[in-house]
Parts: sequence; C-alpha cells; structure tokens
Amino acid sequence: MNIYLVKSYLSYLLKSKYKKGYGLHSPFVFNLVRDLIGDSHRYYVFESVKAYRKQLMKSKQVISMSDYGAGSTEFNKKERRVSELVLKSSIHPRYGELLFRLANHFKPNCILELGTSIGISTSYLARHNSSSKVYTIEGCENTAAFASKTFKSLKCRNVNQIVGQFRDVLPELVSSLNQLDMVFIDGHHEKQATIDYFNICLSKAGNDSIFIFDDIHWSQGMHEAWKIICDHPKVTVSLDLFQIGIIFFRKECQKQNFVVSY
Ligand SMILES: C[S@@+](CC[C@H](N)C(=O)[O-])C[C@H]1O[C@@H](n2cnc3c(N)ncnc32)[C@H](O)[C@@H]1O
Repeated sequence: MNIYLVKSYLSYLLKSKYKKGYGLHSPFVFNLVRDLIGDSHRYYVFESVKAYRKQLMKSKQVISMSDYGAGSTEFNKKERRVSELVLKSSIHPRYGELLFRLANHFKPNCILELGTSIGISTSYLARHNSSSKVYTIEGCENTAAFASKTFKSLKCRNVNQIVGQFRDVLPELVSSLNQLDMVFIDGHHEKQATIDYFNICLSKAGNDSIFIFDDIHWSQGMHEAWKIICDHPKVTVSLDLFQIGIIFFRKECQKQNFVVSY
C-alpha cells in the first residue's frame, strides 16, 4: 500500500470543497465546477468505452511490455495481461468521462497526451470532435500497437500515435505544432520529468489552453512537481481533484488554487 497516497487522500478529504460550485467567487471556476465537474449527463461515448473495457477485462491476451524502471532510463520487459492494464494503468471511467467533458466544452483543436498505454484515455479525448487532432506518445511499442486496435474499435480516426520516449520525441513534436490547446500528462510520474514536460509544453500554451496532470499526489515528488507547476507565473487557475490536477493560463482570471471535491 502506498502510505503517502493514503495520507494525501485524507488531507484532500479535509481540504476539498466547492461541491456544485458553492463558495466559488470566480465565475469561470464556478461554471467549470458546477457545469463540467459536477455534470452527470451520460454521453453516448461513455457507454462505448465502458463496453470496450468490459470486453478487454475478459481477454486473456498478454502484452510483452517495455516497462520503464526508476528514472525511466531503461526498459525492463514484463508480461502484462490486457485485463490488468485496463484495471491498473488505464484511467478510471470517472476521470476519463471528465476528460471527455472538458474536451467537449473547451473544444481544443490540438490535444497532446503523454502516456497512451492501451488507448483508453486517448479515446475519451478523441471522441469529442473528430476534426480535432490528438497526438499521443507511448514508449512501449507493443502497447502502442494494442492502442491502435483500440482506436479502430472505438472509431477514433483523429489520433496520431508517436512511439518513443517522451524526452526523445516530445521537443520535436511540440515545436512542429502551432498551439497546444489541451495537454494530458499521464506517464513517467517523477518530479523533475513532470516539470520538464510541463516546460516543453508551456512553450505552445495559449491563453485558453488547459493542461491536465494525472497522479499529482502519487508520491512526494509528484506532489512537489504539482506545487511548482501551480506556482508558475504563467499559471493562473489550478484545480486539485486529487487524482488529477487541472491548470489554466487565462490572464483574465485571478491567480488561485482550488482543492475541489470530486
Ligand atoms: C499510466 S499509463 C497511461 C494510461 C493512459 N493514459 C490511460 O489512462 O488509458 C502510462 C504509460 O506511459 C508510458 N510511459 C511512461 N514513461 C514513459 C516515458 N518516459 N516515455 C514514453 N512512455 C512512457 C508507459 O509505458 C505507460 O504505458
């Protein structure tokens, strides 16, 4: 059991508030919390992804994965069941559905994801609008190959897969894009790496861009990375939903950090 995570969760339970937006003065954050974070509408895509996950849960297929060791400097080969990847590595439906709602609301033209795995979170991001472009990076070739089957099954035709280590492929990819409207960072959960990826992506962030970080309280290092990112002068609003953190760069908003019940 990750004791750090348990302690962080207890602290989050004590600090989190603003259910349904109550107590929020910023109209932007109020609408976001009430209408998006608190939205219970079931979109068609939610059921498609749910059914696909259910199908994979029954699969006996095994993927020979190149798993990153500590520091992400070397690969260790590991056999992982697809069903285990659905359960342990893929985004929980609750958060995947929130990714979809955020994309559906903010209508990003260009989305970048770090950490495709078998393609579940990518599918939520891709299905809001087939004319948006989704770039997703995965270091493990076999996992990326499986993800491409996910995209076919879930009819995500706007996904561009990049296979390679983040540090090798991210700088060139980011410099080739005009603007990053939405970024989801869900891989290589270490303090310095997370800050480095944030800084690279920041170079293409616009006023209305939205960046989302997964596992912000997974370790002391990730917690520190999250704090450093929230304190960055270009970041105005930050929302801590425990599992994920969301940041905005809107100059019209006052700088403030919110710990929101979700
Ligand atoms: C938590 S999983 C991503 C889950 C996925 N976003 C989802 O919710 O469906 C993280 C993925 O990032 C990949 N990864 C981790 N560190 C990486 C790195 N430095 N470069 C490239 N890929 C990496 C892993 O192989 C793994 O598949």
